[in-house]
Amino acid sequence: MPRHRPPSIRPSEITPPEVYASRRRFLAGAAGLALAAAVPRARAEGPEGAVLDYRRNAALSTSETPNRWEDVTGYNNFYEFGTDKSDPARYASTLRPKPWSVVVGGEAEVRGRIALEDLLKPHALEERIYRLRCVEAWSMVIPWVGVPLAEVLKRLKPTSRARYVAFTTLNDPAQMPGLRVPVLDWPYAEGLRIDEAMHPLALLAVGLYGRVLPNQNGAPLRLVVPWKYGFKSIKSIVRIDFTERMPATSWNRAAPEEYGFYANVNPAVDHPRWSQKTERRIGAGLFAPRQPTLPFNGYAEQVASLYSGLDLRRNF
Ligand code: MTE
Repeated sequence: MPRHRPPSIRPSEITPPEVYASRRRFLAGAAGLALAAAVPRARAEGPEGAVLDYRRNAALSTSETPNRWEDVTGYNNFYEFGTDKSDPARYASTLRPKPWSVVVGGEAEVRGRIALEDLLKPHALEERIYRLRCVEAWSMVIPWVGVPLAEVLKRLKPTSRARYVAFTTLNDPAQMPGLRVPVLDWPYAEGLRIDEAMHPLALLAVGLYGRVLPNQNGAPLRLVVPWKYGFKSIKSIVRIDFTERMPATSWNRAAPEEYGFYANVNPAVDHPRWSQKTERRIGAGLFAPRQPTLPFNGYAEQVASLYSGLDLRRNF
């Protein structure tokens, strides 16, 4: 558990709506000053940002209607910019996604700092419309643009000892005012087993709606793992490490009884404080019925075999 946490924030609050309000009040006192220093940015009404060149991967896309740009870029979790859903859109303009590089380390033949352009250059961009299911029991449908994670990782030539891949987010309080608030043990960290990372559905995203990623969505490079709860999809990645041992992840460290390493979407395993059986589709309207949550977020046919023999109630 992180040591320097203000006593009134419970680490386990990856927050369902009913607790936003109290946390917001606390943060207004503790961190409001730091966040208020950033200039609030008006929310964009429609797609904006540099246009990308990509082809649609229809085979790997859901036929569900994507959420509106305003929802995808205005309702976010990116605690480095605050814990309210509207904070990232408001404050993430201080992030400087260009130039950007990623440091590769650990059990791989290719190591060291690699400019983002070089990391991505050989790969064609594709669009994939994926469901995103947040652990807070809401969901969205997002048209991502990116490259298969497996293609990038293979070029880094993991050694035979590499069993996991760890990802780390930028840790610069000058660009990310929320880092001054110890809600999590920064920097934000996530990881996958190497066979999960090599699965064709895992995407390294650089854009959405055909444009470069808005800062609040994790510019310039983020992970998208559609069969896992959204917190696995780490934003603004600056490190990729190949490891022999299971890496520590931010939410698991903050509240191990609530957030596991696997975090596969599983309607049969409730969060200790709320049910995971159903979800609220963002933008569907206040009176829209909740929809059932599907095992592996609807991707069971493709990914369930990764976990054969693993007790998913214990390995949540
Ligand atoms: N990555 C970082 N670095 N910091 C975060 O707070 N939040 C996670 C994930 N990646 C988070 C992060 C959570 S809880 C979710 S649901 C998704 O980002 C949300 O992605 P979106 O805002 O693009 O929809």
